[in-house]
Amino acid sequence: MSQATTNVYAGIIAQFQRLTLFIERILNSTFSQKYNPFYYHGALPNFFLWVLFISGLLLFAYYNPTLEGAYPSLEYMTKQIPSGALFRALHRYAADGMMIFVLLHFFRVWFTDRYREYRILPWITGVILITVLYLAGLTGYMLIWDSESVALTYMTVNFLNSIPGIGSSLASLLIGGDIVTDYTLTRYLFLHLGIPASMLFLLWWHYLRITRPVTNAPLVLNLMLFGGLLVACGLWPVGIGEAPNLATPSASIEVDWLYMLPHGMLANGASPFLAWVVLLGIPVAMLLLPYLQKKQFRGQFAQVVNENCTGCSLCYHDCPYEAIEMMDRDDDTRFKRIAVVDPGRCANCGLCVGACAFKAIEIPRMNTERVFKEIQVALGSAQS
Ligand code: HEM
Ligand code: SF4
Ligand code: SF4
Repeated sequence: MSQATTNVYAGIIAQFQRLTLFIERILNSTFSQKYNPFYYHGALPNFFLWVLFISGLLLFAYYNPTLEGAYPSLEYMTKQIPSGALFRALHRYAADGMMIFVLLHFFRVWFTDRYREYRILPWITGVILITVLYLAGLTGYMLIWDSESVALTYMTVNFLNSIPGIGSSLASLLIGGDIVTDYTLTRYLFLHLGIPASMLFLLWWHYLRITRPVTNAPLVLNLMLFGGLLVACGLWPVGIGEAPNLATPSASIEVDWLYMLPHGMLANGASPFLAWVVLLGIPVAMLLLPYLQKKQFRGQFAQVVNENCTGCSLCYHDCPYEAIEMMDRDDDTRFKRIAVVDPGRCANCGLCVGACAFKAIEIPRMNTERVFKEIQVALGSAQS
């Protein structure tokens, strides 16, 4: 990408960053710093995940994954079981809430430039997480198995069939054969339970390179979100559509744009090709984003001054990015260990410089001597 384009892109992101920081200031004055939701952008999706797991378990206890049984079991749950409708609504709105907060988290890390270089692992696993979340939500809508759900299945099968070559194999992989059978619902259930389970592993991977990730928001914020969920459940109760008829499914579907983007596009007249371009283009563009801007201090990372390093490990313990390793040394010094920096993980933060009592580690853009000089100049101008 040319330098001019890179600069335009960086300029746009800088504007969004200003906007983000402006909203953050407003939230600080409303909620105080302690409860500012912007500071828990990664933790808040986790709250919804727990609500999804708990409400999903209760739904699973009644769900019957067969062509004949699925609709009546959900109808029974909605109309006969006390709080059954509430749990369905909680499950649905927690899924929407999770996607909304994951998107906020995504925009936040993107606009505040916390997604490139040494943060590439949480970024890439984040793209996988959002894809997986999307698939979990979509299969959830298919499980309802009312007339709209059947229409959603047919739409998805046609959408998959539109891929040249492998389309029909993918479609039969999804529904478990060439036509809809009991296996279709078993497969949906398998996907709908298996995909979220994989999220636990993905989240572990997501946090792997983040030192002290904030994974839980304060109780007050979680309670506020739960209150919001209950209000949504009360205002927009979740019902169940017409009984399924495989020969004549519903002519239209109610589109949840958070989980049915291509279906919504197709329902509004877009071609399958365009819907595929958008569906695949979004994660691909997300994966490419970190490479659009150049690192500000490319090639710079903490440098160990070998002859001063005593191997005390203080920098190793203080480095928030696990960028320092302590290695055995076999040169002529009396010290047995030496700090070694992994350039790919170093964030240039300078914490190790502060930790080292031996002037044995420096970051080139701001070495100790330069920092001392700057402090002296600052002190001098403060005294005069
Ligand atoms: C299931 C969805 C997700 C959950 C539960 C989640 C959770 C979290 C949490 C708890 C953190 C630590 C935040 C902190 O300590 O301040 C984090 C960091 C991060 N996440 Fe996610 N995340 C999810 C999806 C995503 C997505 C979709 C992206 C972007 C594609 C993303 C990119 C990142 C990045 C780059 C960081 C590091 C930010 C930093 O170091 O400040 N995450 N995530
Ligand atoms: S500057 Fe030092 S503390 Fe910071 S990431 Fe690099 S090695 Fe770790
Ligand atoms: S703190 Fe300094 S002396 Fe100790 S291991 Fe790190 S670089 Fe070496």
